[in-house]
Amino acid sequence: MTAKTATTDIPSDVKDLNLADEGRRRTEWAEQFMPVLRQIRARFEKERPLKGKKLSACLHVTTETANLGITLKAGGADVALCASNPLSTQDDVAAHLVRDHGIKTFAIKGEDKNTYYEHILAALVHQPDVTMDDGADLVGALHMIALDRLDDLEIPVRRWVEGLSAKARKEVVSHLIGSTEETTTGVIRLRAMAEEGVLQFPVIAVNDSQTKHLFDNRYGTGQSTVDGILRATNILLAGSTVVVGGYGWCGRGVAMRARGAGADVIVTEVDAVRALEARMDGYRVMPMAAAARIGDLLVTLTGNTSVINVEHMRLMKDGAIIANSGHFNVELDLEPLAKVAKGPRRVREFVEEWMLDGKRLFVLAEGRLINLAAAEGHPASVMDMSFANQALAAEHLVKQAGTFGKAVHRVPAEIDRRVAELKLASMGVEIDTLTPAQQKYLASWDAGT
Ligand code: NAI
Repeated sequence: MTAKTATTDIPSDVKDLNLADEGRRRTEWAEQFMPVLRQIRARFEKERPLKGKKLSACLHVTTETANLGITLKAGGADVALCASNPLSTQDDVAAHLVRDHGIKTFAIKGEDKNTYYEHILAALVHQPDVTMDDGADLVGALHMIALDRLDDLEIPVRRWVEGLSAKARKEVVSHLIGSTEETTTGVIRLRAMAEEGVLQFPVIAVNDSQTKHLFDNRYGTGQSTVDGILRATNILLAGSTVVVGGYGWCGRGVAMRARGAGADVIVTEVDAVRALEARMDGYRVMPMAAAARIGDLLVTLTGNTSVINVEHMRLMKDGAIIANSGHFNVELDLEPLAKVAKGPRRVREFVEEWMLDGKRLFVLAEGRLINLAAAEGHPASVMDMSFANQALAAEHLVKQAGTFGKAVHRVPAEIDRRVAELKLASMGVEIDTLTPAQQKYLASWDAGT
């Protein structure tokens, strides 16, 4: 990265533009399962609510994200895109966005840490009015610049910022209207920043919409995590023991789908209510130290760190398979594992074998989000709702610019409800409406029983 000033002329960085035709075909395939986003795109084309705005998005570069990017562009935004995970990029999609839509894209599947942060930086150099994040890496970098906490920045970003004048540094954040955040982990990080009083601009927590986490996190992560594990390993789930770390929205989905495939599912939790729910949903619940001894496959989805540590790994059976589908790979203690185990030996594309105490442990996709690394992430039909929320949240931020405090805000309830109504209509599902008498009854406390 050679840019020394806040310019916008960094060229796209994708693997191979010749992949664009395949990317276009797959993006069109996803589009047919995204009727809500299509309707928003049609309105955006007419109304151009994002006209003149620069938007930088740090999202998994998938066919669904391509459809979001095209929608934002239809709304008038000048869009730049970088990856939110080094392993989740679909290179054909990245090529398609650059060649066919003129969306600046900085993402290559398998990029190293340096390149990953250089790409985030390139999206910042775009000088966005609005940002979109999935895990808060982009917003995190913006804050380190704004707060002059350069020591906390990853090296490529730090090098670039050190080359900027004080004025240029301020400009990187000063005209920002706000950001949106896609995932649980990002929202947790942003709330921590707001509580510390360091959040520099408003953020809309898309993850908190009901039409996002109830569906994307549960049904999307549930199905695609199992899909990623099966594509990586081709194991039979029926008759196997699957340990699910964390019974939040994502964990519930994975537990449900693994059980549906015939696995004996064990849940580990730290929250008593969630553990109780898992037990009453019919799963065995126990501490990881107990589950580690009997699991054939162990998958974490907590948003926490060191959920499976080396002590747990020492307890595991020969041949145990370990995967993570939470946002960061820190859920598995892989660095400590590398210090005490022999390996890794790559045995299949997304499978690495480690020898620990004479036993084989198989780690999938280096502990990165298994559904995005080894499969294609969530199906388009569920991302339709998440990205409808994203597009409408961006419009809301721009239309109401200047009215938000520097805090984490929710997507307005009307938007959430509207997304649900549009999705139901697209599925041909009709529901009842309250009669005036029912409305009155529900609003009163003194009506007879
Ligand atoms: P959530 O907050 O609903 O659930 C997390 C659960 O993990 C909670 O019940 C919590 O008590 C539990 N937990 C925390 N520490 C634990 C520990 N040490 N052991 C066992 N359980 C523990 O969060 P949600 O929405 O389920 O998200 C989980 C993670 O998955 C986040 O990092 C999120 O960003 C990520 N995510 C990944 C997706 C994917 O495509 N793979 C999609 C959506 C979210």
